[in-house]
Amino acid sequence: MKPFVEARALHYAVRGVHIVADATLSLFPGRLVVIVGPNGAGKSTLLKLLSGELHASSGEVSCCGEPLRRIPAWLLARRRAVMAQATQLAFPFTVEEVVRIGLDTLGVDARGEAADEIIARALRRADISNLARRKYDTLSGGEQQRTHFARVLCQLAAGRRSESCQALFLDEPAASLDIRHQLTLMDAAREIADSGVAVLAILHDLNLAAAYADQLVVMRAGKLVASGDPAKVLAGGLLSEVFGVHLRLCAAPPKAAFILPHGHARRIAWSQPAQTALRRGPLDNLVCEQGSEPCATLLKNENASTSFSFWP
Ligand SMILES: Nc1ncnc2c1ncn2[C@@H]1O[C@H](COP(=O)(O)OP(=O)(O)OP(=O)(O)O)[C@@H](O)[C@H]1O
Ligand SMILES: [Mg+2]
Repeated sequence: MKPFVEARALHYAVRGVHIVADATLSLFPGRLVVIVGPNGAGKSTLLKLLSGELHASSGEVSCCGEPLRRIPAWLLARRRAVMAQATQLAFPFTVEEVVRIGLDTLGVDARGEAADEIIARALRRADISNLARRKYDTLSGGEQQRTHFARVLCQLAAGRRSESCQALFLDEPAASLDIRHQLTLMDAAREIADSGVAVLAILHDLNLAAAYADQLVVMRAGKLVASGDPAKVLAGGLLSEVFGVHLRLCAAPPKAAFILPHGHARRIAWSQPAQTALRRGPLDNLVCEQGSEPCATLLKNENASTSFSFWP
């Protein structure tokens, strides 16, 4: 299968500082690629290079075999949609108007029944139909993020009328979402990939990345330091090194891998669950037990919150 978007040996430098260095990556129809990496690793910059928002200092990006630079903006808008990490809107649009921008950018007729149906479907998929008439700037952070997701869904749906192959770029699309909306957004991204779209998502949630990616790419200091099957990339121990924290790869039935940070005390509001008991531990700490099994060590008592670490 041919890649839909192909980047070879991309470099991007600002005033002599290499922000992306020697990046080679292909996006295939039907595949969901997830990029992870620390803040400032160059993930958003790479996404902008692949989507055509930025041009590389050297190296080449092609889309459908054509250099990205040569594809006119109107055609690019039909071939790919981009949900940026942060979006500022200058006017007091309603949610529906923001989503309609997804059609306006294509130069297609943004009025009429067909357009309304595309918008209604995108609003439903992003679970914001009930907010359609609300002013965008009065929405919560998560609601604004879902509005932009609906906008890119709308753009993809309209572009599909003329383009058989498309790409979707998502830069931290779930960062402000509650867990249900994180999962429904990633389910939608998965379905879009399954329908033949090449999807690239940047995620900070390693568990979402492990659960949804067909290919996991790890970036550090502008470079792609690992790329491949998520289970293999996660098992390699590289992530602990890249992020500078202790991470443990675990498996929960049925065979779902998850990443557990350990050795980092967390601060939570603690309420003692039913059937648990507290006893004094060997280091004068408090041990929480469920039945006869210890389940957590309490490190320090405070009024409403307590630092604790899970066993082991
Ligand atoms: N135009 C620019 N001028 C100077 N520095 C830049 C420019 N664009 C990006 N950078 C720097 O390049 C680095 C990579 O930025 P980028 O936004 O790609 O990181 P990121 O991996 O997406 O991080 P995050 O997880 O915080 O979103 C950062 O240190 C950023 O400050
Ligand atoms: Mg970023």
